[in-house]
Formats: sequence, structure tokens, C-alpha cells
Amino acid sequence: MATHAPATRPANPRFSSGPCAKIPTFSLDKLSDAALGRSHRAAVGKTKLKDAIEGTREILGIPADYKIGIVPASDTGAVEMALWNLLGARGVEMLAWESFGAGWVTDVVKQLKIDAEVKTADYGQIVDLTTVDTKNNDVVFTWNGTTSGVRVPNADWIADDREGLTICDATSAAFAMDLPWDKLDVTTFSWQKVLGGEAAHGILVLSPRAVERLESYTPAWPLPKLFRLTKGGKLIDGIFSGATINTPSMLAVEDYLVALDWARDVGGLQGLQDRADANAQAVFDFCDARPWIANLAEDEATRSNTSVCLKFDDARIQDGATFAKAVAKRLEAENIALDIGAYRDAPAGLRIWCGGTVETADIAAMLPWLEWAFEAEIAAQG
Ligand SMILES: Cc1ncc(COP(=O)(O)O)c(C=O)c1O
Repeated sequence: MATHAPATRPANPRFSSGPCAKIPTFSLDKLSDAALGRSHRAAVGKTKLKDAIEGTREILGIPADYKIGIVPASDTGAVEMALWNLLGARGVEMLAWESFGAGWVTDVVKQLKIDAEVKTADYGQIVDLTTVDTKNNDVVFTWNGTTSGVRVPNADWIADDREGLTICDATSAAFAMDLPWDKLDVTTFSWQKVLGGEAAHGILVLSPRAVERLESYTPAWPLPKLFRLTKGGKLIDGIFSGATINTPSMLAVEDYLVALDWARDVGGLQGLQDRADANAQAVFDFCDARPWIANLAEDEATRSNTSVCLKFDDARIQDGATFAKAVAKRLEAENIALDIGAYRDAPAGLRIWCGGTVETADIAAMLPWLEWAFEAEIAAQG
């Protein structure tokens, strides 16, 4: 049993699931070209915002006829903008299998008061996607449930000839997983996740059918200025070419541009996916070889390659929540792994971010310490 401390430490102990580790080459002087103290409407700022939009399109392979907007309030802002603008036109199905998906259910059912069909699954599981009527209903779902480490295995359940819209919170999936754009009408994410960017802004991606809905349907409820995407029944095109609704952080924009450059350097989307896959595989292999720890995601096909959630399984553990917290605390105290406790609403355990900004060597160096911390806590229970 590895009760002695391992010899190697991760060079970077940052395994938080958001804000996530910055790109491995990051330093503050990389942001020195930021358009600070200038109007974001001046040519210099507007060009950077446009570059952020087009860089997103290039790396994620988003079709030319999809709109990409930089919006306020991070991923939450982008999702809520979509819900408030688009829902109410037809039946709605809400899918949730962890905390963030559950939050969108609350928005739709309690705030918008839509009589939606709500389909939920426990942490570690996923709803039966074959029961979802994407042909007729608008469907809201999370591609990767960040707090349970469960993702949709594919988009085969989404009809090609659908009349409803698919609204997908892809914040911990974009830049790490394949997103089939033909199946997604609204896709959202934040810069603070897989690319290790800064929070504050969200990205909202709209298919032509989502734009058509925006231009043909007016919700019954009022929309604050921050949410308004149309004017006089027409899409406000400026939002999708860098004329943001309100003032963006040009420092955050610069940081995102730097991260996009790094993404190109590591091989674009494929390179990012390979990095996340290698990181997650190292964790999966570690768990497979030990009886006392397991992936929270029950079905292998749904296992996240970004927010990998783990649970302890050992009869010697007296109090699961206390134990998991103590392991995380021990690793934090040693500066081996920061912020890896399970999300506050999730079952007791750990969550290890495996997105592309994390180096596989750091995951490999951290895991023996996890075993060390586990053994130390078992011993400490007395
Ligand atoms: C699936 C999911 N949705 C939404 C959010 C909220 O993101 P933000 O804080 O960037 O608005 C998060 C953050 O962790 C998330 O994981």
C-alpha cells in the first residue's frame, strides 16, 4: 500500500472544473496586445471581437450559415437568453441528470412557467434519450453534465427532420467533444471551461432554424435589454459580428484569442480532443486497477472526458462525505490537486478536470498521490 508520499508532483496542481486550468503556455504578458482603454466599438476592439467569433467557428467547425454571438453573463447568460427568447412556441422537453440541467428545469418550469415535460436521471445515469420527441418538441439538454461527469453518448436520438429546436448547454463539452452542428439549433458555452479562458462572456451559436424562430415568434413575457436578440422582428445581426449588446471585457477577449491560438498549435479540435481523451483515460485506468474508486458515470459510453467524477467504494469508509472531503483537503494541502471535491449538490466524491489545458503528465503525477491520500485517510479514521 502506498502510504509513503510519491516522489513526483504535478507541475500544475490545477484540476478545477471551472474556471479551468489556463493553457500550459499562459503568462500574463501574453495579454499585452489587449485593446485596453479603447472603445470596444473602435476598429481595434471590433476586429478582436470578430476574430474571437471567427476563430471559434474555425476551430469548432461551425457551419458558415450558423450565427455566433458573444453575449453577457458567461454560459448561464447564453443559455438563459436562448430559453427566454425561444421557448413557448411549442411543446418543451427538459432533460436533466445533474445540477446545471436541473437549474435549467427550474428556469423553464418555475420562472417561465412553461408546462414542460421534465425527464430526469440520478447522478451517474442519463435519461432514456430514445423517449425524447425531438421531431415535435423543443428540447433543452446539457451535452456534458459537469457535476456528474455524464455526457450524451451521441446525437443519434435527435431527428434530422425535426420541427422543434434543440437547445444544448455544451459548456464543458465544446473544444473537447464532437458537437454535430446539424443536430444542434442552439449551442452555448463559456470561455472559462475547456480553453481555460476567463468567465464573464458566453458564446451563443444559432442554427438557421433558431434564427427563423427568433424572427417569427415573440414570447409572451418581457425581455430585458441584455437578452434581446431581435429588433422589429429581425435578428440584431451586429451581435453576431462583434457589436456586443453591452461592454465586453477586452482583457477576457484577448485571453480567449490567445487560447484559440494555442488550440491551433496543439492541432485544433482533434488535438484538444486527443488531449482530453488521454487525460480521462489515465484516470479511467487508475480506477479500473483499484477496487476502492470508480467512475460515477455508470455506462461507459456516457463517461465524460472533461469533468471526470469519481466515487469511493470501500467498506472501511465510515462517512462518505467526510471522507471524500478529507481526501480532497489533503491533496490541496500538499498542493497536489486543487478544487477536486465533488460539486456541492453531487454525491460525495471527487471531480478531476481532464480538458485539454491539463497536461497528461500532471494527471499521471497526481494519481499516485490520490492513492496516498486515500490510504492516509483510511488510516486516520482509526
Ligand atoms: C453544464 C454547465 N452549465 C452552466 C454552467 C454555468 O457556467 P457559467 O458560470 O460560465 O455561467 C456550468 C458551470 O460550471 C456548467 O458546468
